[in-house]
Amino acid sequence: MYKKFANRAKEIISEMTLKEKIGQLNQITVTPYMNDVEKLRNMIREGQVGSIILASTATAGNDQQGRIDIDMYNELQKIAVEESRMGIPMLYGRDVIHGHRVVYPLPLASASAFNDELVEKCYRNIAEEAAADGVRWTFSPMLDLCHDPRWGRIVEGPGEDPYVGAQMARACIRGFQGDNLTDKKSIVACAKHYLGYGFSEGGRDYFRTEISDITLQNYVLPAFRAAVDEGVATVMSSFNDINGIPVSGSKKYLTDILRSQLRFNGFVVSDWGAVQMLIHHGYAEDRKDCAKKAIEAGLDLDMCVRCYIENLEMLVNDGEVSIENIDTAVERILCVKLAMGLFDRPYGEKFDYDKEKHLKDARELAAESMVLLKNNGVLPLNKEANIALMGPFTHERRSLLGTWTLDGSESETPNFYEALKNALTNGKLFCTDTSRTYDNSSEISSRADIIILALGESHWTTGERHSVSDISLSKDQIELVNKMHATDKKVVGVFFCGRPMALEGVVENLDAVLYAWHSGSETANAACDILFGDTVPSGKTPVTFPRRSTHIPLYYNTTSSGQPVNGYYGQNPQWNYTDSMASPLYPFGYGLSYTKFEYKNLSADKELISLDSLKLGGKINVSVDVSNIGEYDGKEVVQLYIRDKVASIIRPIRELKGYKKVFLKLGETQTVHFELSYKDLGFYNENGEYLVEKGVFEIYVGENCLTKNIITVKVN
Ligand code: NOJ
Repeated sequence: MYKKFANRAKEIISEMTLKEKIGQLNQITVTPYMNDVEKLRNMIREGQVGSIILASTATAGNDQQGRIDIDMYNELQKIAVEESRMGIPMLYGRDVIHGHRVVYPLPLASASAFNDELVEKCYRNIAEEAAADGVRWTFSPMLDLCHDPRWGRIVEGPGEDPYVGAQMARACIRGFQGDNLTDKKSIVACAKHYLGYGFSEGGRDYFRTEISDITLQNYVLPAFRAAVDEGVATVMSSFNDINGIPVSGSKKYLTDILRSQLRFNGFVVSDWGAVQMLIHHGYAEDRKDCAKKAIEAGLDLDMCVRCYIENLEMLVNDGEVSIENIDTAVERILCVKLAMGLFDRPYGEKFDYDKEKHLKDARELAAESMVLLKNNGVLPLNKEANIALMGPFTHERRSLLGTWTLDGSESETPNFYEALKNALTNGKLFCTDTSRTYDNSSEISSRADIIILALGESHWTTGERHSVSDISLSKDQIELVNKMHATDKKVVGVFFCGRPMALEGVVENLDAVLYAWHSGSETANAACDILFGDTVPSGKTPVTFPRRSTHIPLYYNTTSSGQPVNGYYGQNPQWNYTDSMASPLYPFGYGLSYTKFEYKNLSADKELISLDSLKLGGKINVSVDVSNIGEYDGKEVVQLYIRDKVASIIRPIRELKGYKKVFLKLGETQTVHFELSYKDLGFYNENGEYLVEKGVFEIYVGENCLTKNIITVKVN
């Protein structure tokens, strides 16, 4: 896709000096030059800047960032285009992660909507807003699968499932890049963090990882394969090492797997400082050695630490790095710049967009992302009810936006109190004081028909460099739950969180539990849409909710062991921990509705299919009848899992292979169809070769990963 611009790129390269070529491999932040702008202008004039990141610090997601200034970007771009010898425009990038001005749910929350079309639509809006501010490239989507919710960055990714990871990758990239990268409303996407960053040991950010080749191929890589397949233009190399080799200095990961196996032909940017970190890893001696190792591994653009610009010329002149190596990296970068039409349209253009529509879409996605975990019949609420509202997230705005919000407006974000007040028609809203002591909570609750607790975690406990050692609810919140449980009123807990929290002992004392996540600008309104039944909940957990922090790691797609048989994921109660239950509090794919769905007539169009026919495009058509037998119209996420019963490498007890979100009117039945083909039934061996093996496959279709609706098909 990007290769088709190679001839034009080569022509440009043939006229460039070595210094100019290396300039293309250099990304800077402008912040250090703000006191000496002339120095910055000269660097650009001399062709020493290939790209500018619109961030002031390395951990942009949790630090205050500079404001967008499209006029300044254009002024600098004019120097690159009109005053540098080659006139090559610079590529401006910013971390536009889950929203720009309008903020959408955190990626982990969006994944729980299981609605790819809606996610794509929202990411298209995000691209449009960012482009209207002069941003041409985003460092998103983040595709790190993760087993450890203590890791602060689990909130930025798709959760624990490779299929969901691949679907999210596709939806976000289609949204960002659109059908045409040259469209003024499209921006370049970046699949990150390649590779394995989500496996940081103990949930400690940036920490080491041990990942077997089998796990890498079948679990870590699928989302990146999908991203490449969807035409992602750039990939970010991660900070971490895998089995002792830092990815940003590894030919195995950046060239052999990414280029030869995945067939990626855009360019690779390092994460901020990852090239220099090869020294900290103990993998390179000095900055010169870092530059050599990274460029030879296949890393094209050095983010912000000047290792390339200061060392590559010397390395080439000394014969330590080949000029072909440099030319290849420059060619990849130029191909993307050409493909996106940067040479024809180098300047940012301000344009109008429909912010009201974006807010409406954000509210829809937020509501579809929220997961109803428990309901003793207390929800939906009546808009005439008198409500007592309390808890630390009652007046909170910033956390609702979530980490990695660089440009969303906190002051324009309704808090939960305002949203509830607005949603009630005749009902009264009583609220405690804003202290965390809740001294008047008993008095307040006595005046109400029902109690709503606004609970959760701050955005400060999530994101980069913000891991936690314990994912339990804070003590003061647990005390508040217990205190309200002791009243004679029904208590609803609404949880504003980034990650799955360990809620054993908490949910038991609540009559209903809505997991509202940090769902962006419209979090509070969307939560009210669900609470009052204007939207019937349809979100499902994209990640396991463990009972306790000490149960981490716990994920559904684990392999089967010799013993206990099917005992993991708590399916065999005889094999619990001696001091607690081993099952999750809520399994993967779980979520309630206000209505009820019934599954019947699960069937496949064949019981037997030959491997040859599968290879030639043969399919297994699976169908199931889903009926809405409850009292509301509603959406259901119909999920299909497989299990390869016997294989040369043991396969997971369940693997998600498809989902469909269907809307069913009250009393309606729909037949939902799935197709299983060669690409769904196999796995990768340690060399990255894809295999489908003969034998029996169990196929499960139902409401979550523990569904018992099963049929079998044999591949012979
Ligand atoms: C470091 C983060 O790891 C990465 O996700 C982000 O895109 C870069 N900084 C740029 O801000």
